[in-house]
Amino acid sequence: MGSMSASGDFRRWPVEPGIPGIVRVFDPYCYRCPFGGTVDTCSRQCVSHIEEVIQMEGPQNIAAMLAEGITGTNGLLVPPDDYWPKVRALLDKYDILLIDDEVMAGFGRTGTWLATQHYGIKPDMVTCAKGLTSSLMPLGAVIVSEKIADFMEDHMLWTGLTGAGHPVCCAAGIACLKVYEEEKIFENVAKQGAYLADRLEAMRVKHACVGDVRYKGLFSMVELVKDKTTKEPLAPYGGTSPEMGRLSAYFRSKHLYTYSRFNVFFIAPPLVITTEELRYGLDIVDEALGQIFIAPRA
Ligand SMILES: Cc1ncc(COP(=O)(O)O)c(C=O)c1O
Repeated sequence: MGSMSASGDFRRWPVEPGIPGIVRVFDPYCYRCPFGGTVDTCSRQCVSHIEEVIQMEGPQNIAAMLAEGITGTNGLLVPPDDYWPKVRALLDKYDILLIDDEVMAGFGRTGTWLATQHYGIKPDMVTCAKGLTSSLMPLGAVIVSEKIADFMEDHMLWTGLTGAGHPVCCAAGIACLKVYEEEKIFENVAKQGAYLADRLEAMRVKHACVGDVRYKGLFSMVELVKDKTTKEPLAPYGGTSPEMGRLSAYFRSKHLYTYSRFNVFFIAPPLVITTEELRYGLDIVDEALGQIFIAPRA
């Protein structure tokens, strides 16, 4: 109930009102800036409004800010390079902890252990799972700073889980972390990520329905629109559309699996993918985008 409430994701709606004490702020969603900014006019209101929220709530009442290093399912929102340094400084100013959710973006997906490493900041706590074992075994973990670890030395953490510290899963996790290093997996992510970025940028220019492409390493997403000027989404938030249905059907008919929802779909291939394999998949994506037929409005 608590973690569902903490999420900004629409899947929390059925458990609302959830737990009290959670206040949300806007994401750094540059393509649809909630403050009306553009690349030329941006004054990082996505950061300054957080300070307003902190002051409204009272900094002494705020334990932590919880956010993904790079927001995943909710739009793959790659922040501007100075976003995290600015937010980190703000949180330090008010003595508020940063909890970095790296369940999706962590462990090589973006080419580093943590997505926040791209921006040179350190969180106080990190929640992680999936990539910790390459998702081969179920394992989740919370990494904490030395300061918090020291505190836990003589303070009980009042919790308990049947599978906590499961030795088989932990062994898989340790083995996986070794493989990431020994097989230089993150180097492959950087190399293939550069190819992926080029292909996505070309699709943005080529296809009328591609409003935006966002990527870091092998973590990427395509946002589809009915019209590039108005940016009207190809399907509404929380819903779908015949065009999105046809796109998913086309992918499946070509045996390409990728996660899609609303007006976006993700491209997040295995970290060991080769350029040849990536090209094969991206050619299917390119073909599919060329076939999207947007019905004229009545
Ligand atoms: C960003 C993010 N945080 C948290 C979770 C939940 O993780 P878990 O299922 O390990 O509790 C997910 C699951 O998809 C996720 O993507």
